[in-house]
Amino acid sequence: MGLLEDLSERVSAAFVAEGLAAELGQVRIADRPDLAQFQCNGALAAAKALRTNPRDLAARLAARLKDEPLLARVDVAGPGFINLDVRDAVLAARLRALTQSADLGAPQTGAGRLAILDFGGPNVAKPMHVGHLRSSIIGDCLQRLFRANGWRVISDVHLGDWGLQMGQLISEIELRGLAPIYFDARYEGPYPDQSPVSMDDLEALYPAAAAACKADPARLEAARQATAELQAGRPGYRALWQHFVRVSEQGLTREFSSLGVHFDEWKGEADADPLIGDMIADLKRRGLAVTSDGALVMPVAEPGDKKEIPPLLLLKSDGAVLYGTTDLATILARVRRHDPDLILYIVDQRQHVHFEQVFRAAHKAGLAQRAHLEHAGFGTMNGPDGKPFKTRAGGVMKLHDLIAMARDEALKRLAEAGLAADYAEDERAEIARKVGIAAIKFADLSNHRTTDYVFDLNRFMRFEGKTGPYLQYAAVRIQSILRKADAADLAERSEHILASAEERALILQLLLLSEAMAGAQDKRAPNILCDYVFELAQRFSRVYAARHILAEEDRAVRVARLELARMTLAVLVYVLDLLGIEVPARM
Ligand code: ARG
Repeated sequence: MGLLEDLSERVSAAFVAEGLAAELGQVRIADRPDLAQFQCNGALAAAKALRTNPRDLAARLAARLKDEPLLARVDVAGPGFINLDVRDAVLAARLRALTQSADLGAPQTGAGRLAILDFGGPNVAKPMHVGHLRSSIIGDCLQRLFRANGWRVISDVHLGDWGLQMGQLISEIELRGLAPIYFDARYEGPYPDQSPVSMDDLEALYPAAAAACKADPARLEAARQATAELQAGRPGYRALWQHFVRVSEQGLTREFSSLGVHFDEWKGEADADPLIGDMIADLKRRGLAVTSDGALVMPVAEPGDKKEIPPLLLLKSDGAVLYGTTDLATILARVRRHDPDLILYIVDQRQHVHFEQVFRAAHKAGLAQRAHLEHAGFGTMNGPDGKPFKTRAGGVMKLHDLIAMARDEALKRLAEAGLAADYAEDERAEIARKVGIAAIKFADLSNHRTTDYVFDLNRFMRFEGKTGPYLQYAAVRIQSILRKADAADLAERSEHILASAEERALILQLLLLSEAMAGAQDKRAPNILCDYVFELAQRFSRVYAARHILAEEDRAVRVARLELARMTLAVLVYVLDLLGIEVPARM
């Protein structure tokens, strides 16, 4: 049980003994760490409801807690706060238990439940943009966290492979005469195994096609037509599309792995296509889908709606399916295949209405009886101009280029800070890669996911302050202390109880790991882990600044401090790993 949870239970019991509700006994970290470790504000709320004096009530509760063996001190402060300090011996025992637990006390709240995490979501042939980057970073952190907390997780990249951009590409290729065989209506196959277009071709063809469609309604119409025919199953188009998907997947796999992001499934919008026909027939039969202006829609508005929720578009008048159609059918596919407890979509906040429509449609149609459907939206990564981040030339920044840029900046910073200076070039390059990625990921994750933030590599890359590189450096420093320590000291266990204020503060933070993990999971909020790990590193550096470790003369004290350092390192590395950040062996 987490320390906060344990304290809350005991304080709740005191409230219950006073005839009050147990929830009032919720204990939290003290607002003023200089006055107490923990506090409970429940007496204030209770006294208000009862119209009694909050200080008197708090005093009665405190009296009930006087003999609580966990506590070193209970007192009443201010208008009726109950302040609590835990006994050092209890902290030491809990720290010891934490050291010995294999999972560092991760809250096993998942207990075998299954979550499908839908994130990444790049589109075939279109370059990934910052929205996809954020989705990948946040989604990957959540998949690591869910797993650590005992969930079974299936992550799915959900490729955008069934929309208009496919028809745009097909008609562009037809016009340019690049692969005539795929357009020959009399040709019956087989089609070549080798793709007629490379990733570079696709990246050049798509913007050209998109621009042409924007400028010329006839081109747009041709693209629409091609999309509808592709979806209807025209063999040449399907074969060509298959090449686009395969070529894109290869490129994307490379990009994601350089970011350290892994997916269990590489499914796409098109994978749910075989289910769409029956699904739509069923929705029609039950009167849930209706025709409107030639299109097929599913009304999802509800009486209490504060703002208008438009119907979900299922089929266009030409029979083409849309983003909402494939998302709805994908729910059906996932439920049939995996029967998950949760499907979590980590997608740009601006798609909020889309998911509201899709979830309502799924519930109305009874597609997800058991699975909880949830959209965890995120804000935009902006450039210095306050608009979504672009390259200097105004284009979308490719993930590959972004990583390279971060690595170069990291190399510069390492040189400035005099770090890794005398290492071999390839080790330095590898450190720079890890530092660059850490800078980007930590900056992204440390904001609450729904807030927009400005991309500022300069700031993200600092070795001081709340950054990824600072935390990596903190871990590397502890590693180096441990490397220098005497092997006999490291093998020893100390019964010595560390009791300086700095050490106590550090131990308390270590003991709050499971609560940070639970909170981050409940709120789908990686920033809680970022706050936690930053605070941990700072508290360690205060100990380090205040006390000697290696130079401590008293062996029992030295051994105890080394244990604390080792434990801090273990937790630091563990939480950084949850954030998708690697720690170099040295720097
Ligand atoms: N491909 C989409 C986009 O680029 C994101 C997909 C998100 N996932 C989903 N199931 N809709 O906006």
